[in-house]
Amino acid sequence: MKGIILAGGSGSRLYPTTRVISKQLLPIYDKPMIYYSLSVLMLTGIRDILLISTPRDIELYRDLLRDGSHLGLSIQYKIQEKPNGVAEAFIIGEDFIKNDTVALILGDNIFYGQSFSQIIQDASKSIDGATIFGYYVKNPSLFGVVEIDKETKKPISIEEKPPFPKSKYAIPGLYFYDNKVSEYVRNISPSSRGELEITDLNREYLRRGKLKVELFGRGLSWFDSGTEDGLLEASNFVKAVQESQGLYIACIEEIAYRMNFIDKTQLLELAKEYKNSKYGRYIKGFFANDDFRNY
Ligand code: TTP
Repeated sequence: MKGIILAGGSGSRLYPTTRVISKQLLPIYDKPMIYYSLSVLMLTGIRDILLISTPRDIELYRDLLRDGSHLGLSIQYKIQEKPNGVAEAFIIGEDFIKNDTVALILGDNIFYGQSFSQIIQDASKSIDGATIFGYYVKNPSLFGVVEIDKETKKPISIEEKPPFPKSKYAIPGLYFYDNKVSEYVRNISPSSRGELEITDLNREYLRRGKLKVELFGRGLSWFDSGTEDGLLEASNFVKAVQESQGLYIACIEEIAYRMNFIDKTQLLELAKEYKNSKYGRYIKGFFANDDFRNY
């Protein structure tokens, strides 16, 4: 399976903060937001990754993440000329996907919780059409919403930011698709706001009876960090978890090591890049404590 991170957009809800910098490079507590979405693909076991961003920002991402080989990954970069919608990722990424299945994650989505890695690894292995997720929220009108049949657990409808939502299940920005995805995107038309909507793509899979929805339980935390409150809430959450456990969320070097993408020598070499930051010291301390390393 291939992975795409979509890290473009205009970030206009965060103006003036995002006037001159990409939203997904802003910090969530102690690391750039993009580390969180990259870590989700890595935890799924995906090593072949395409990062899509704006003409203005793409080089910053390349500076930050390079070709990915230091993490045991291959990371390629492509430009989205304008924010023409999330589903455009599959047109921009068509040559990259080739004959494979693909996971898409939005660069401003953050996930954390027990068994999350297992859930996404399982989902990635059984792709027959599309798999999306449902997450119970207080305010579904702010998101894409999926309605689910109580008996069969199958999806009935999908709506984008409905004023009167048919369910409380928001659709987070993590999606798995089969190899038909680019073809189906070519068949959908831009919405009234001029975007190729991921909701319309998912509706196409639903229409064909090929859409699966996995519901996340309440033990999972999901943040869409596209607003000032979302940014702060996610940062506070990461700080609270890291300080109580001493285990970091989305330390991409640690994940590369734990997933066996890199070895101990490579990991310690990477820690040097972070100089004397707390993040760097966390990686350096990894081998000082057996409990910690084996956790
Ligand atoms: P949004 O948060 O919907 O849009 P945005 O980032 O442009 O922000 P705003 O609404 O404040 O103007 O986008 C969700 C994610 O998808 C985010 O990580 C940016 C990314 N995105 C693209 O890369 N290209 C696009 O065309 C769109 C619509 C979003």
